[in-house]
Amino acid sequence: MPHVVIVGTQWGDEGKGKIVDVLSRHVAAVVRFQGGNNAGHTLVVDGKKLVLHLLPSGVLRDDCLCVIGNGVVVDPDVLLQEMDRLAATGLTLTPDRLRISQLAHVIMPYHLQLDRLREAALGKARIGTTCRGIGPTYEDKVARRGVRMADLVDPRRLAAAVERVLTEKNGAIAALGGEPLEAGKLVEAYAALGQRLAPFVGDTATELHRIHRGGHSILFEGAQGTFLDVDHGTYPFVTSSSTVAGGACAGAGVGPTILDEVVGIAKAYTTRVGSGTFPTEAQGEEEERLRATGGEFGATTGRPRRCGWFDAPLVRHAARLNGLTRLALTKLDVLSGLDEVPVCVAYEGVEADSFPADLTGVTPVFETMPGWAEDLTACRRLSELPGNALRYVQRVEELVGVPIELVSVGPGREDTILHGDLFTR
Ligand code: GDP
Ligand code: IMO
Ligand code: MG
Repeated sequence: MPHVVIVGTQWGDEGKGKIVDVLSRHVAAVVRFQGGNNAGHTLVVDGKKLVLHLLPSGVLRDDCLCVIGNGVVVDPDVLLQEMDRLAATGLTLTPDRLRISQLAHVIMPYHLQLDRLREAALGKARIGTTCRGIGPTYEDKVARRGVRMADLVDPRRLAAAVERVLTEKNGAIAALGGEPLEAGKLVEAYAALGQRLAPFVGDTATELHRIHRGGHSILFEGAQGTFLDVDHGTYPFVTSSSTVAGGACAGAGVGPTILDEVVGIAKAYTTRVGSGTFPTEAQGEEEERLRATGGEFGATTGRPRRCGWFDAPLVRHAARLNGLTRLALTKLDVLSGLDEVPVCVAYEGVEADSFPADLTGVTPVFETMPGWAEDLTACRRLSELPGNALRYVQRVEELVGVPIELVSVGPGREDTILHGDLFTR
């Protein structure tokens, strides 16, 4: 059975959570490999909505191990709240269902403060981060002064790690007008969180290898999207991790030779939250309509998402960067009722097989596809789609150059057209 990486091909919120939940039926483990609770992955099962920020989207499958890999940054308070919320619905995650890498870095209160203070100081030039402490935590990881889960669960190591950095952190916080933190209180509070999480923490890389050797499939659940990647995204308006498929190896502790397939999730149009360039962004009523029909408000921060049309050069570049073998097209139902659907097929003056360092100022070339009026939510085969909706899917497949594995026609688990043979061949 294949090991499959799932990545967002745009700027996040493509519907990764829903697709991972759908596909997790076939796998032994789902692994988050980067990002943290900047992610908001929505699952809708039996009409009930569940938004996950840190827990992998395999949580609803009893026989699926959920792994938070070493590449993730973990806010222990948020993770415990998420686990408690699930427990309140009758789903208690035990250490044989949830594993957290001992090497994952911990989001500390000073990271949260610095993220907020820096964004405020940037004013209009702000990145528009989720203010969850993600960037400052990855900075400390790379600067070799981070706190890891192995430290969090050991009060002495935690105290030593905090001791090493707090003077410097408090200096930075004070310089930005924030309230310095007190070491004793911080260590006490975080040691308590560490004690609760300790039974879940271990060597997840070795556990994944055991699953691999047993011949079972693993799903690697990407967060954010290709154009929020720290290298390949619309820098500096990006997140601080490798969101592309290559990140799955480093962030989970597996070698590239074990991966079989990479599925790119693409929304049938485009959205973006936060600052940064967005060539196909719609304006006025057009944008309002997409936002209202698509329910485009952030699953993490509640911010309205910026909305626009499908950008084929963008997703085609994502296909190259991730080595996509299949495409999942989501939210096709949201386009029902439009007379015409614009699709960006090229950027003026830019060759099809190249991509500019900066998208600012590029002019999209639009093609207009005929729309359709029918509600698509009940469609379960491509052949059940109205002709123009099917032509839209086929045009996207052709422009991106990657075969369609599935099409999502509603938020629910069952609102899905399974077309390819990813797990059935
Ligand atoms: P993620 O971050 O990629 O997991 O995506 P989010 O959960 O942040 O945002 C996707 C939103 O669209 C969620 O509210 C989903 O419930 C919803 N959604 C997912 N697929 C579909 C679909 O095919 N149609 C509709 N109408 N909604 C969908
Ligand atoms: P999922 O996994 C959409 C965006 C933020 C901001 C930039 C940097 O749900 O698709 P950060 O807090 O990471 O330093 O913010 O990245 N961003 C997301 N946008 N979906 C996400 O996750 C995002 N995670 C971060 O809005 O522009
Ligand atoms: Mg999201």
